[in-house]
Amino acid sequence: MKVFLTGATGYVGEAVAGLLVAQGHTVVGLTRDPRSSRASALEDAGVRVVAGDVGDAASYRARLAAAEVVIHTVADGRRPVKGDERLFDELLALRAAGRAPHLVYTTGCSVYGAHSHPLLDESTPTDPDHPRARLEARLATSGLAHTIVRPAFVFGGDGRSSLLGRWLDEARDGVAVFYGDAAKVWSWVHVDDLARGYAAVVEHLAELDGEAFLLADDAPVAAREAYEACQRAFGRTGPVTHAPISEEAPVYQVFDRDEVVDSSRARRLLGWTPQAVTVAELIAAVPGRAATHPQL
Ligand SMILES: NC(=O)c1ccc[n+]([C@@H]2O[C@H](COP(=O)([O-])OP(=O)(O)OC[C@H]3O[C@@H](n4cnc5c(N)ncnc54)[C@H](OP(=O)(O)O)[C@@H]3O)[C@@H](O)[C@H]2O)c1
Repeated sequence: MKVFLTGATGYVGEAVAGLLVAQGHTVVGLTRDPRSSRASALEDAGVRVVAGDVGDAASYRARLAAAEVVIHTVADGRRPVKGDERLFDELLALRAAGRAPHLVYTTGCSVYGAHSHPLLDESTPTDPDHPRARLEARLATSGLAHTIVRPAFVFGGDGRSSLLGRWLDEARDGVAVFYGDAAKVWSWVHVDDLARGYAAVVEHLAELDGEAFLLADDAPVAAREAYEACQRAFGRTGPVTHAPISEEAPVYQVFDRDEVVDSSRARRLLGWTPQAVTVAELIAAVPGRAATHPQL
């Protein structure tokens, strides 16, 4: 399959690129900086790296037209909505010409907003005011062939864009502050299992249109327990300060609640089964001595 992958140098994109190339797909990966070391590593792994910005459709128009599937994993903190809208517009123009590829669009549990659902699945209503939920809704009525992937909290690999990685960095650096609801429980997905989820979507593409898949393993963990395990991994046995959510830690404002996910739909329709270690298993294996990070 000819795959155009945005965010290919990212935490998630890199794992997806590696797996799809290993499975024999042709992967063209978008990056704003094709001279970066991550871009070079992708080239070495067999990905054709191309320069472009998702907000500048001219920089990747030809790549979309040549692709059978577009996997969008860009995380653009500066312009989280505009780039996605630009991509949708471009795909709609291709659809009008009768040749739009299938879009695999990445969002996350944030689309549920400030909910109080004990268990999230694909039938749980999303927050109509959330920007990414609005983008999902736009896709639903666009006529574009698409599939939505909503990962739980991602961990594993080098952990660079994961909260677990951030917590290990904090423990290494002697920071011990846990923010917000001390009882909240989160679902997690290993980055390699997440990559397998995207690959399963690509494999089942002909049967999919307009589906959403929440991807998480079966082992939700109390966030504070995971935080404390990260501390222990670096031999930090002192107390962890409990702080209210503050503007210094905006990421916790978004997720200061239980985020527990049921992925049975992905298991049923995609045959997806998480295979990697779980956060719970990592925590159980944490030694009470100095660890090396990434991700233990
Ligand atoms: N990490 C998690 O725990 C998690 C959980 C749930 C959902 N998600 C979602 O998964 C997706 C991927 O996240 P991630 O953790 O892999 O993020 P990431 O590590 O920050 O990677 C995102 C990539 O997006 C690219 N990018 C940013 N702005 C761009 C632009 N304007 N044009 C083109 N490329 C651009 C960057 O590549 P260049 O700098 O090379 O251009 C970067 O490597 C996001 O949608 C995120 O919200 C992540």
